[in-house]
Amino acid sequence: MRARASDVVIVGSGAAGLACALALAPRHVTLLTKTPGLEGGASRQAQGGIAAALGPGDTPEAHAADTVAAGAGLSDPDTALLLARQGVTAMRDLLDAGLPVDRAADGRPLLGREGAHGIPRIVHAGGDATGRTLVAALAGQVQATPSIHVATGAFAYDLVVVNGRVAGLLACHPEAGWVHHRCDRVVLATGGIGALWRHTTNPAEATGDGLAMAARAGAELANLEFVQFHPTALAVGDDTGAASLPLLTEALRGAGAHLVDDDGRRFMVAAHPLAELAPRDVVARAVWRRLTDGQGVFLDLRPVLAERGEAAFPQAVAACRAAGYEPTRRPVPIRPAAHYHMGGVAVDRESRSSIPGLWACGEVADTGVHGANRLASNSLLEALVFARRVAEDVARHDDPIPATGPAPAAPAVPTPPNGQVAAIVARTRDLVSRHVGLARSGDGLRRAIADQAEIAAALRAWEIYAAPGNGATTGEIRRWGEARNLVLLAGLLARAALNRAESRGAHYREDFPEPQPAWGHRQILNAAGIANERPAP
Ligand code: FAD
Ligand code: SIN
Repeated sequence: MRARASDVVIVGSGAAGLACALALAPRHVTLLTKTPGLEGGASRQAQGGIAAALGPGDTPEAHAADTVAAGAGLSDPDTALLLARQGVTAMRDLLDAGLPVDRAADGRPLLGREGAHGIPRIVHAGGDATGRTLVAALAGQVQATPSIHVATGAFAYDLVVVNGRVAGLLACHPEAGWVHHRCDRVVLATGGIGALWRHTTNPAEATGDGLAMAARAGAELANLEFVQFHPTALAVGDDTGAASLPLLTEALRGAGAHLVDDDGRRFMVAAHPLAELAPRDVVARAVWRRLTDGQGVFLDLRPVLAERGEAAFPQAVAACRAAGYEPTRRPVPIRPAAHYHMGGVAVDRESRSSIPGLWACGEVADTGVHGANRLASNSLLEALVFARRVAEDVARHDDPIPATGPAPAAPAVPTPPNGQVAAIVARTRDLVSRHVGLARSGDGLRRAIADQAEIAAALRAWEIYAAPGNGATTGEIRRWGEARNLVLLAGLLARAALNRAESRGAHYREDFPEPQPAWGHRQILNAAGIANERPAP
């Protein structure tokens, strides 16, 4: 197996990975991404924008207070304030560097308002093309930075941990095959876990690889049960297969789009005082219940498009048309979809995990900011702020620790007959979608845990009989690697959700419909799914 040395290896080239690589320059950084190009991940799909206390009358304290209120008792107030304060600096730096954000006539950034933000504070770029604009700007800077070595199409398979600390990363590269990245500092910036559900707004690459790698390495994981479902994904395709659904941004509802039933009635008006702008989990469950009852649910964009024009929401309009719907004529069908994982690798305020030498930032991490529910447009900001904090922390601990231990052997990757890996993934998605979705119950979660154990046993049997260095292709290695990650995470999420015998924020238990004061804390799990209770950092 080849070996390559770097000061720091970053896995993932979304907003978090790109920002981290830039902040680490001029250190010798290797930035890996499994997508064929540098620009992948959920970051480039972000439509709503980036929240930051930039406007007149706004303060980081007010932003932090809204963040903590959304977190339903589990957000850490100090970390939320740190995010809001350093978020202002991060956004100002991006504006100074020329990020082309939407501006008012007086030249100041145009600030939008979204659900549960007390004041307009959402910065957009290119209307609803904020993520794409941000990622293109960061990727351009990365490509112009000689100290950053970018490896695309490279699949990170596992961390190498020796004597309890990080000694490298094992990855499969398209031309070189297996590579042992020798380094004592690895940053996980691998994004979310949306591919665990049949319907998600996330891209296909959101298979939770970083979270699963950290779990196998023995890192502590926090609040895995908290998953945000977005209420308004465009309902395309059939109901059986897996799908990344186009998002119809919440900003549309903020600007006056309505949720309507088969008869064109606005059902959210009777359901919640804030109607369509009720908290995301409330709207998502209301939509889901109607769909489960066999009724249709639609988003009526006509009032918004008439008032603001199509140019304000180019991505949403294009997605509707691509699916054969004309949003200026009639309401379009929608459904809830898995959107954002609040839980993740447990990190402290410096983005450090419980394993020395391992940092995590962006959606893969649980910094303690979001708690049980994330405030809209706070995740890009969190990715930018905590990516910088990784770099600052690395600088504080700059004495390299020689990577020790023998080079790892190439893993034995099974290559089951055609379609079998896809079948495992489909079965895993099915159990997660049924039992670890918008509404959960003890019985359903126990069934999910039993089913997952069967699937995991089948995977283990294949692994036992696979020959090391058996010539699996890069594509087969990625498919297998993603499948084993999804299966592992399905079990961990179900266990975390079963343990939390209450409803709070995005976690809703039909058998425990109320919050329980005894559960007002962060839940830390290890890879065996064993919980140990800990307050927020
Ligand atoms: P990502 O951007 O998802 O990047 C993950 C990277 O990791 C990718 O490059 C991927 O290729 C790489 N990777 C993963 N596994 C491996 C592996 N094994 N080996 C190598 N590479 C790997 N948030 C907001 O704040 N505002 C919004 O408006 C907003 N809108 C959103 C709209 C949509 C449709 C979605 C899906 C999310 C939205 N979010 C929004 C959430 C936000 O986009 C994400 O939380 C954030 O972009 C995550 O950034 P990240 O860098 O952590 O991960
Ligand atoms: C949206 O645009 O509705 C999503 C924004 C977010 O998830 O932060």
